Amino acid sequence: MAQTDTASRGNWNSKLGFILAAAGSAVGLGNIWGFPTQVASNGGAAFLFIYLICAFAIGFPVMVAEITIGRRTGKNPVGAFNALSGNKFLYSLIGMWGVLCGVMILAFYTVIAGWTVSYVFEELFHFIGMNGWATYVADTNNGIINAIFAAIFMSATVSIIVGGVSDGIERATKFMMPLLLVILLVLIGYVLWQPGSGVGIEAYLFPDFSKVDASLIFSAMGQAFFSLSLGMGALITYGSYLSKKENIPEAAAYVTLMDTFIAFLAGLLILPAMYMAQAQGVAIFDKAGHLLAGTALIFKVLPQLFHQLGGVLGLIFGVAFFLLLSIAALTSTISLLEVPVSYAIDEYNFPRKRSAQLIGLGILIISLFISFNISLIGVFVTIFNNVGLPLGGFLICTFLGYYWKTENAIAEMESGYPSVKQTIFSKVWPFFVKVICPLAILYNLLNALGAISYLQNLFG
Ligand code: PHE
Repeated sequence: MAQTDTASRGNWNSKLGFILAAAGSAVGLGNIWGFPTQVASNGGAAFLFIYLICAFAIGFPVMVAEITIGRRTGKNPVGAFNALSGNKFLYSLIGMWGVLCGVMILAFYTVIAGWTVSYVFEELFHFIGMNGWATYVADTNNGIINAIFAAIFMSATVSIIVGGVSDGIERATKFMMPLLLVILLVLIGYVLWQPGSGVGIEAYLFPDFSKVDASLIFSAMGQAFFSLSLGMGALITYGSYLSKKENIPEAAAYVTLMDTFIAFLAGLLILPAMYMAQAQGVAIFDKAGHLLAGTALIFKVLPQLFHQLGGVLGLIFGVAFFLLLSIAALTSTISLLEVPVSYAIDEYNFPRKRSAQLIGLGILIISLFISFNISLIGVFVTIFNNVGLPLGGFLICTFLGYYWKTENAIAEMESGYPSVKQTIFSKVWPFFVKVICPLAILYNLLNALGAISYLQNLFG
């Protein structure tokens, strides 16, 4: 099997650089918005519990698989499956599916990320008393506003990708990730001292196991794949820039831990903040008595809270919160764009700058379409995120487990982790990749498609 010289495509400068970039990809809107929202509507800690199982038992082994495939081949997802299968078209489809999911996820993600930026302006306008403007930029149903902010966000993403692996992605994430953590911790520190926040902590950490059913498990798995950036080759791509000196399972463990920890922290911010908002007179339950979630939570409840707080405090809190979301989103969008860009560079010898600009523009066109039809976001999420990513994870595991073989993957891990063969990891991981992960994903997907109940009716 041909192995490419990774030096010419770019490399991470350091292990920390890789871990922060991969954690930056993982930590995104999925953590700060998606996770707390899902917790709020799915039985508090019961969801947290199922989520942790999905992240560590299913997500982590898939992450190791992706990084190993990436580093072994030194290629983008399509090139990687080509290289490992000796150019069999069928297998390269796994990579193509990943690239497609990445493109489509980036298209809707950019629109939502645009909202997080427009709300920074909303908070500023509100503070200086320009309420008309504040309402105007805050209208997520306004196609023009959506389009403008999506374009701004895509430009920021492209400008980082143009810089390359170490001077673009690595430099940006090394700066943004610590900043993100500091903002998050300061916000939590503040919220936890406020009246009403205790009820939020209770709602977060008190499990309601009666809510656990197939649909909750499906949501938790979709959330874990999305949050860990798995199933579409972002980590194959990032792994392709990783030095042979690095320990892959260890790096993957750090990334999984960081992502999960930040999701957990975000829950400590958002749920208490909701009840704090309630203490200020903001409605946090819908008519059916469910906690408000999704867009209503992030773009209605929380801004109302910031406005109630008023003055400089409200401004700082509001701006810091939406800045936090924007930063988290940006470190993720760059990893989404890097996937098709690396594909164009590797497979078509396109220069990086031109690839980033053209592909960014192409995806922005889809984003603009979504900007004017935001109900499409739900459709995209279902197809490319909830089904697409677990399906990608399933294909990656079965390919690695039964075609490329786990022994070859373990051999790749030996560089950077020479004693890996003597560890229990090397005994347990293959079993997860070959059996546990594919079965869990398959069960979940079939369940989601209603196939299981159909079969039950057929044979029951
Ligand atoms: N992990 C990101 C988040 O949590 C989203 C993402 C998915 C990024 C897939 C890259 C690939 O928001």
